[in-house]
Formats: sequence, structure tokens, C-alpha cells
Amino acid sequence: MKRLEVRTRRLILRPLMPSDYTAWSDAYTKGLPQQNKWDRDPYDPKKWNRKWFNTMRREHERLAQADDYYRYYVFEKRSGALIGQIDFNIFVRDTHQFANFGYQIFNRHWGHGYGREAAKAGLKIGFRQLKLNRLEAAINLDNRKSVRLAKLIGMRREGIKKRYWFEFGQWTDHLIYVANPEDIGLKARAPQC
Ligand SMILES: CC(C)(COP(=O)(O)OP(=O)(O)OC[C@H]1O[C@@H](n2cnc3c(N)ncnc32)[C@H](O)[C@@H]1OP(=O)(O)O)[C@@H](O)C(=O)NCCC(=O)NCCS
Repeated sequence: MKRLEVRTRRLILRPLMPSDYTAWSDAYTKGLPQQNKWDRDPYDPKKWNRKWFNTMRREHERLAQADDYYRYYVFEKRSGALIGQIDFNIFVRDTHQFANFGYQIFNRHWGHGYGREAAKAGLKIGFRQLKLNRLEAAINLDNRKSVRLAKLIGMRREGIKKRYWFEFGQWTDHLIYVANPEDIGLKARAPQC
């Protein structure tokens, strides 16, 4: 699956390149302390070193080549800083063209509309580049920021999947927000399988 760089007003979304090491290291190891339950403390720079960067980048390339998983990194045009990521975990191709859609902005950059801008671009990437027909965001019942964002970019609440995701040491229920191409003004296409 050919992946292209996508530009929005303030952001660039693209796979990681070897030259991104400094921006990547800065993003993951120099953030603010964990701000809420869904956030993370900065990672240990001793572990998140160049060797880890290369291993992870190669692994993401392999997963994308296998059409299993795609991650796009979000760069701020103005500063070149890596400020977040979106990802697509392909669940079923064939007659469903269905992926889980995730988004994250690193905590130093919250509250500037970047989450909204990146996730909106993510829907277009999912439908146009990755040729998906169904993008599902699975959101913790009490993650209000994420619910607001999903609604703002045009995703529809479909319901609650019970005991859907293993996290925080238990199987947890999740709100399911969904988008199809028609929800953002694109034409649905038949699967090419
Ligand atoms: C959820 C998350 C992606 C939101 O990222 P964000 O960049 O802060 O989101 P935005 O800035 O687009 O929106 C946050 C607020 O800033 C406001 N905002 C500030 N400046 C803005 C601007 N210039 N343009 C648009 N909105 C702006 C938004 O209106 C919004 O207000 P609200 O919370 O009252 O609705 C981020 O908090 C995150 O990564 N959390 C941890 C991981 C997570 O929960 N991921 C989702 C898992 S399902």
C-alpha cells in the first residue's frame, strides 16, 4: 500500500524516516509528566535510544508492508516538532475494509486544535490512501476529550462494546465511534479483493 505524506494547514502526517531520530527522541522522552489516565509519562531516554528507534521504525515498515498496521507521525510544520501520531490497525480487509483508528497528541501540544486537525486528516488517509470503508475509534467510557474529538471530526456513536479491550489489568468496555467515507463527504468504493 503506497503511503504518501499528507499536509494540513499546520501539520504534516507521514511515516517515520531515518532522519527523524532527534524529533522522535525529543517527543517521547521530553514530554510533561502524565496528565491523565490515557496519557504516558516521558519514556526513559536510555531505553528509547537510536537502536530502539531503528528497530521500531523497521518493525512499523514490516507491518505496513504486510498490510497489518499503519502508523503516521504528526509533525508541526512551523517548528518541525513531532507532536503526535495516528494509527490504523487493520482488522478485516475482504468485504469489510475495517480498521481500528487511534490518535494521540503528546501532552506538551494539547489544546491547540492539533488533535482535531490530525484526526480529521487521519480519516481521509484511512479512506483514500488505505482504501478502508470503516474506521472505528474505541474510546474509554470516561475519556471525554476523545469523545469530543471523535464527534467534532464527524464520527458517529455506534454503541458500547462490552469487555472489549484488555487494559489497566482488566477487560474494559469501550464506546465505539465510527466513520465511513460518506460521513466526511467521500464516495464509498467496493472492496478490491
Ligand atoms: C484526546 C487528544 C488526542 C486531544 O488532543 P488535543 O490536541 O488536545 O485536541 P484539540 O486541541 O483538537 O482539542 C482540545 C480542546 O482544545 C480546543 N482548541 C484550542 N485551540 C484550538 C484551535 N486552534 N482549533 C481548534 N480547537 C482548539 C478545542 O476546542 C478543544 O476544546 P474542548 O476540549 O473544550 O472540546 C489528546 O488529549 C491525547 O492524545 N490524549 C491521550 C491519548 C488519548 O486519549 N487518545 C484517544 C484514545 S481513544
